[in-house]
Amino acid sequence: MISTERLTLLLEKTQGIAKEAGAFIRKERQHFNMDNVEHKGFNDLVSYVDKEAEKLIVDKLSKILPEAGFITEEGTNTTKAEEFNWVIDPLDGTTNFIHGVPIFCVSIALMEREEVILGVVYEVNLHECFYAMKGGGAFCNDTRIRVSAAKSLSASLIATGFPYYNFDLIDKYLAALKSLMKSSHGARRFGSAAVDLCYVASGRVEGFFEYNLNSYDVAAGTLIVEEAGGKVTDFSGARDFIFGRQILATNEKIHEEILTDLQKAWA
Ligand code: IPD
Ligand code: CA
Ligand code: CA
Ligand code: CA
Repeated sequence: MISTERLTLLLEKTQGIAKEAGAFIRKERQHFNMDNVEHKGFNDLVSYVDKEAEKLIVDKLSKILPEAGFITEEGTNTTKAEEFNWVIDPLDGTTNFIHGVPIFCVSIALMEREEVILGVVYEVNLHECFYAMKGGGAFCNDTRIRVSAAKSLSASLIATGFPYYNFDLIDKYLAALKSLMKSSHGARRFGSAAVDLCYVASGRVEGFFEYNLNSYDVAAGTLIVEEAGGKVTDFSGARDFIFGRQILATNEKIHEEILTDLQKAWA
């Protein structure tokens, strides 16, 4: 097991690396245009900014923990290690970035075997750096954060991600959204799953649900939610949310209420 001292140092260095990548992304956005957009698949957009940010992050992280492997969205390094793996989304919110909607972030997690032990999400334009290490609480720019105290769905704001490719489950998704919209203060689609999770962690929204996400979208954010006192599960209520492609993150108090609605719609 990694020592607290070593993890604390890694957390500090990872924040620096996320901020450096964020500065690069911010600079490139100033002269970015649609000619720079590439398609990985239908509605699956990417650009040189995602790829170069990822190279920068992988290069720096490999120096601070040489024995660790990597899971990254753009595939810069696909070496897996048994004990430690970095899980990286160099730019979460690519569609926002491309269109100039200013909500996007850098997301970096460190897993020790099956468990996320460190998470950093750097919101590039608001300069909000969310971070947590296992057992150490969650922070935003060095201030401790906690989930909302709201006790019911009727007093809650819910974040989600709309499906934008692979529409097989869209009817179930819309049924879930409809019932949540009717019983809460409303729904928001920010366009970055990592930001959505940090907004649960900091009490700006009470819950977040989405399906079809990947490990690099959620790994860092889920630790930040749990360390802020929240709860994260898949749609069955189990803990298969890093690689399971279904996620429900809440302030804990409204978890069962949302889960019930979600399960009715998903049946
Ligand atoms: C996407 C964002 C978005 C979510 C998508 C993700 P990307 O990540 O997190 O909010 O709805 O499913 O793929 O492609 O911008 O890194
Ligand atoms: Ca992507
Ligand atoms: Ca992502
Ligand atoms: Ca991405």
